[in-house]
Amino acid sequence: MSHPEPLATANYPGKVILFGEHAVVYGQPAIAAPFNTLTVSVKALPAPHGSGLAIIAPDVGLTLHIREGETTNNALVYAVQHALKVWNLAPSDLTLEVRSTIPMGGGFGSGAAVSAALIRAMADAIQYPLDTAALNALVFDVEKLHHGTPSGIDNTVIVYNQPVYFIRDQALQTFEVGAPLHFLVAYSGIGTPTKETVGDVRRLYEANHERYGAIIGQIGALVNQARDLIASGSDLAALGRLMDENHAYLQELTVSSDRLDKLCTAARDAGALGAKLSGGGRGGNIIALVTVESAAIKNALRKAGAAKVWEMVLQ
Ligand code: PMV
Repeated sequence: MSHPEPLATANYPGKVILFGEHAVVYGQPAIAAPFNTLTVSVKALPAPHGSGLAIIAPDVGLTLHIREGETTNNALVYAVQHALKVWNLAPSDLTLEVRSTIPMGGGFGSGAAVSAALIRAMADAIQYPLDTAALNALVFDVEKLHHGTPSGIDNTVIVYNQPVYFIRDQALQTFEVGAPLHFLVAYSGIGTPTKETVGDVRRLYEANHERYGAIIGQIGALVNQARDLIASGSDLAALGRLMDENHAYLQELTVSSDRLDKLCTAARDAGALGAKLSGGGRGGNIIALVTVESAAIKNALRKAGAAKVWEMVLQ
């Protein structure tokens, strides 16, 4: 069978939060970077006249039809419907083919990446002029449906595809990297919806502003120290210790788990300079700061139950 030429293709990466997840929801800074090893790709394929707009995900055998005015809880359908509504356009005859290597609920921003790729591919296929800021705003709207109170960090890192020092409701800032940083990213194999962990932190915060507000503030202060250390590139051991400290605060916010703690401990015991959970937590992934020789740490992470271990270099 011959495959039609795509009218447009859009690719977006996953992301890793280096410091400051959860506290960022409360106005504290966070640092994050694209993780280009994991990607979502959407091809906008021409469809026969009258066949309408559909999303297909051949790898998981999914077909979704987009109909004007229909309400939906499906994140992919919502992303496309929302963009059309904002643009005041009816669905065209088009098939949006999604392929993704980003685990869902894995703390890698899969939701933001798939929304960005769907909307970008559709806009380009129908030649709707869409700049990056407008795409970022649309993806943020979709995130709100799914996370309740997202900070906006996921969509910003992913849509702009660049490292960010992020404070919610503020213009994008990036940060200096004084010397390349080598990380291992270990996926626990378990997805946990971000909405769940963000909701749990919210409940703790509502019940005890003083205690949890202080932890959130301490995370924010640590993020700024991390930014300075990353810029100077001179004291990786201190940067590693800040990761451990950030993880301990996240434990207090109850968003770690035995599995994530075990992965962090295994990485540290095998020689990592520091380790922390990254993203929403519970399930999801951890990151470990390593020197270039990381084979022993990789093995230790696999032995401690990591489903996948990847390298990531930030420079
Ligand atoms: O788990 P992820 O990839 O969706 O990352 C969420 C990051 C949080 O700080 C926990 C939530 C947010 O909106 O910033």
